[in-house]
Amino acid sequence: MIKKCLFPAAGYGTRFLPATKAMPKEMLPILTKPLIQYGVEEAVEAGIHNMAIITGRGKRAIEDHFDISYELEHQIKGSSKEPLLTEIRNLITKCTFSYTRQIEMKGLGDAILKGGILIGQEPFAVVLADDLCINQEGEGVLDQMVKLYEKYKCSIVAIMEVPEDKTYKYGVIDGKEIEEGVYMVSNMVEKPEPKDAPTNLAIIGRYILTPDIFEVIQKTKPGKNGELQITDALMNLAQKGMVLAYKFQGQRFDCGSVEGYVEATNYLYNIEGGDK
Ligand code: G1P
Repeated sequence: MIKKCLFPAAGYGTRFLPATKAMPKEMLPILTKPLIQYGVEEAVEAGIHNMAIITGRGKRAIEDHFDISYELEHQIKGSSKEPLLTEIRNLITKCTFSYTRQIEMKGLGDAILKGGILIGQEPFAVVLADDLCINQEGEGVLDQMVKLYEKYKCSIVAIMEVPEDKTYKYGVIDGKEIEEGVYMVSNMVEKPEPKDAPTNLAIIGRYILTPDIFEVIQKTKPGKNGELQITDALMNLAQKGMVLAYKFQGQRFDCGSVEGYVEATNYLYNIEGGDK
């Protein structure tokens, strides 16, 4: 059973400056909900109720969001605005939230390693909240991955096909397809130039990791941009055992870029509309 979900949320969000100067990028709203809330909802849908969040300086709004706001709730109690808080209130009561800070930005691998203290020795999910994943047709992406984990009991990364000239933005995998949309990873490269990319199968921000990853990260050397990369650690893990890559059902929006953010907003606006 996967019981915990880790949210690395310490990054600066420089692509969204000045909006992210004093506000965490994970709190940017798509319609009326902050990005990280979509991630928490996706985890809950997958049966996960313990959220472990890696924060950093200037990220306190995340903690406040997943808490009661007494003054606000008192003010709007009994008014027509009260229902606007129902969804988040219900979400909070279903979950626990624990936090630790990444003191220095040393890469996603380092952020996940810092989360070890909140996770312990059990398999866990990872959500990068600026990758917003929606599956209108059925189960959410994490739910799909949890089910796959139950079958194979190994670390899994979510992947999608990207245009060949865009591989430099992603971790890229190579591997053998062992069932439809499921690959046994044989190679993994962090942000390769198109000429060096083994395929166009790009990792997106959803992972299921087994706890042996913590020891492997500790033994992994800094890679791309001098940072500790989870992609490199997973490659080391794949060499020792088995790592799967899963072509998920649904859509992913890169909400860390203005273009993806606007796309996600329009997509959800067309589904849900504006003012309720
Ligand atoms: C991270 C990972 C990368 C992955 C990407 C997905 O990169 O390092 O392997 O493809 O997330 O969004 P980042 O976008 O944080 O630079």
